[in-house]
Amino acid sequence: MRICVIGAGYVGLATAVMFAKLGHKVVCADVDERRVRDIQAGRSPFYEPPLEKELGKFVRSGALTASTDSRAPARDSKFIFICVQTPSLSSGRIDLRPLKAASRVVAKTLASSKEYKVVVVKSTVVPSTTVSVVRQILEGGSGKTAGEDFGLCMNPEFLQEGSALRDSMKPSRVVVGAIDRRSGDALMRLYAPIKADKVRTDLSSAEMIKYASNAFLAMKISYANEMANMCARLGIDSGPVLEAVGKDPRIGSMFLTPGLGFGGSCLPKDVKALRHKTKALGLPAKLMSGVLAVNDDQPFEAIELLNTALGSLRGRRVAVLGLSFKGGVSDVRDSRAIPLIAGLLAGGAEVVAFDPMSMSQFIELMPAIQYASSAKDALNGADACVVQSDWPEFSRLGKKEFSRMRNAIVVDGRRCLDPAKVERAGARYLGVGYGVASK
Ligand code: NAD
Ligand code: UGA
Repeated sequence: MRICVIGAGYVGLATAVMFAKLGHKVVCADVDERRVRDIQAGRSPFYEPPLEKELGKFVRSGALTASTDSRAPARDSKFIFICVQTPSLSSGRIDLRPLKAASRVVAKTLASSKEYKVVVVKSTVVPSTTVSVVRQILEGGSGKTAGEDFGLCMNPEFLQEGSALRDSMKPSRVVVGAIDRRSGDALMRLYAPIKADKVRTDLSSAEMIKYASNAFLAMKISYANEMANMCARLGIDSGPVLEAVGKDPRIGSMFLTPGLGFGGSCLPKDVKALRHKTKALGLPAKLMSGVLAVNDDQPFEAIELLNTALGSLRGRRVAVLGLSFKGGVSDVRDSRAIPLIAGLLAGGAEVVAFDPMSMSQFIELMPAIQYASSAKDALNGADACVVQSDWPEFSRLGKKEFSRMRNAIVVDGRRCLDPAKVERAGARYLGVGYGVASK
């Protein structure tokens, strides 16, 4: 089967490699020339090692190709997956411009095609987008009818960055929202080799399942953060508390790690987009506002710990270790490093930053701070450091590195270090939600 994937980001590329692995011929179409050149050379445009390994294999065999043109590959394909980005506007509203542009190109190919095709929206879009916006563009631009002349599905993606291909191949569930039975049956057949629970719904329910899932994950993190903040004020270490809470199977232990809050290209913007959409319908979405408010405050928990430990931030040199939105990835979109560094600078600190994989992307966002070439260099002469993303190499820092600091104060912003090990290495450990009141 020929498949066209429009938008070769984390979702598009993982989808493309997954279908190539299942034996299909896949073309990735992207407007970004550099991304297309990378893929043509078998390189992933972002740090995702297992995906890159498989990508190279399929590029070399010719099963996966890339193009800056969407029209020809879409014309030649039975399935067209739309995987473009859907970021937030400053109001919180979803920005549908890339989705609309991709839909307009698909509409043109539908107009000139005699073959029945299935268009699948995989981008995260607020409920009713596929049926109102995408369908309207496809029908208007092609003169054809969805559900009769072509198929239309909404198939949300649940992968996590850092395990993109594994999550695509072994998803927790596959959700197939469809405009009619024929479209849904066709997509179900395509997914037949993937062993997972499959949920069939209408288009808007599929869209809502994605938001409801991300809203829950975000809520769980903000819950963990609020409990951890309470523990800290009460002089209790939140670690064992949340661990025991997570043992209740109705709660579960995952996504209960407190810290600087959730970042990344999805949880923050999806909670905002859902809230914006439902507010416009007259529902205040108070829980979502609370989730976001807790998240916005979390970087200041770390700043507060530093202020208390150092007296003041003014003139102090603070090393920020980890700039990506979590360890193991190069993505800096909505990273908590941004508000953390802004808060440190506002307090008068001098900031030196390091990340193993995302320095060049972060420098574009914040060119005015200092950058170090390693964690060890960042710690040189620092008055304190904040571990902002949970890269494994930061948990291996010890006496040799901490002894380079002027004041060996370590703020663990992700609860990823062993407090006893840090203290044995001669540094003072301060963790978000660690129970500073008793220390
Ligand atoms: P991304 O920004 O990494 O990639 C999107 C790609 O689409 C870019 O390469 C961009 O150049 C390309 N593009 C934009 N407009 C185009 C057009 N008109 N024609 C062709 N290409 C175009 O995005 P992503 O992180 O892969 O996310 C894509 C969607 O999937 C979003 O809606 C996101 O919310 C959702 N999602 C993302 C993840 C994740 O972990 N990143 C997980 C699940 C769902
Ligand atoms: C998230 C979801 O986990 C995916 O299921 C979803 O498909 C994806 O968003 C999406 O829709 O794009 P991802 O963005 O890769 O995946 O990031 P997560 O692993 O969920 O982490 C998000 C943020 O929460 C990170 O900043 C992380 O450090 C933070 N986090 C995570 C915590 O603070 N505590 C936790 O316990 C877990």
